Amino acid sequence: MSDKTPEKKNEHGHGTTGHSWDGIEEWDNPMPRWWVYVFYACIVWAIGYSIAYPAWPGVKSATAGVLGWSTRANVANDINEAAAKLAPINAKLEAAELTAIPGDQELAGYSASAGSAVFKTWCAQCHGSGAAGAVGYPNLLDNDWLWGGDIENIYLTIKHGIRNTEDDDARYSEMPAFGVDYLEDDKIDAVVNFVMSLSGEPQDASVVAVGGEVFAEECSACHAEDGTGDREQGAPNLADAIWLYGGDYDSIHTTVSYSRYGVMPAWQNRLDEWQVRAVSAYVHQLGGGE
Ligand code: HEC
Ligand code: HEC
Repeated sequence: MSDKTPEKKNEHGHGTTGHSWDGIEEWDNPMPRWWVYVFYACIVWAIGYSIAYPAWPGVKSATAGVLGWSTRANVANDINEAAAKLAPINAKLEAAELTAIPGDQELAGYSASAGSAVFKTWCAQCHGSGAAGAVGYPNLLDNDWLWGGDIENIYLTIKHGIRNTEDDDARYSEMPAFGVDYLEDDKIDAVVNFVMSLSGEPQDASVVAVGGEVFAEECSACHAEDGTGDREQGAPNLADAIWLYGGDYDSIHTTVSYSRYGVMPAWQNRLDEWQVRAVSAYVHQLGGGE
């Protein structure tokens, strides 16, 4: 480094910065005019912007800006506008007879899309986005129904839920845990074999005969004598090879020994009436509706 050498000037009349590295010096040229004007313009624009729009962060919120512009308010307005547009059809959906919805082109079409949106938001976590279900969460696409597949029953199931403690009208039933006190191990083994035979699994005939007696005594009150189930009690059909909790020996053995207790929330506590109706009609038209 050397001291500034003011006597040295370039053709524009500017000296050097005084820096010198290995004899290489730097001209002290000012920024180009155009750049300086753009810079000043940016400052002016920024001041104007921060007066007009929300800009300076405060402890709880930012300065509001004199134009009163707010992304939150814009979203709220958009939502209100959309709700206002849909209000007439939602009112019509709420007033309609449930059984009339599938036959009403306008309501059925609207429910299919609005109900699908409700389903993806609120139901897919348990029943799957395509409604095909999972272990413990029934498939809603087939015509195997625990509680009934006509639109009125689907609506009641969704509105009040199943075995929850929040809605007095929730669907309720409880299979006893037969392995806890009720049945000896060999009887449980026999009845499990019998249940497997109901859906055509080949089993030892003598064991199945014993299991059939246990079934008639202990199980038929809920699952019906032929094992086809009872929708009044949400007792599954055991003869259709469709399983909520699994149809292999171990799964059925666990079900019979400890029972199951599938719970679904009451959706009337979380959704508007038109949403419950829309999603009921949506589930009803998925394929298994009766
Ligand atoms: C927290 C998990 C969960 C969520 C979320 C959920 N369900 Fe369920 N749902 C269940 C369970 C578990 C059952 C089966 C209960 C039983 O064993 O009877 C069920 C059963 C049903 C049934 C009865 C099926 C039949 O065969 O009778 C319908 C219909 C249904 N759900 C629709 C819905 C709809 C529509 C939503 C969204 C609004 C929803 N479910 C959200 C867990 C859930
Ligand atoms: C009080 C009525 C009741 C009685 C008695 C009863 N069950 Fe059940 N059973 C149910 C209900 C309700 C369910 C569904 C439970 C759930 O979804 O959480 C069920 C579910 C099952 C399942 C599961 C089916 C599947 O798809 O995964 C099997 C297997 C079963 N029961 C077998 C039996 C056998 C065997 C007996 C007799 C030893 C019996 N149940 C007695 C009500 C009953």
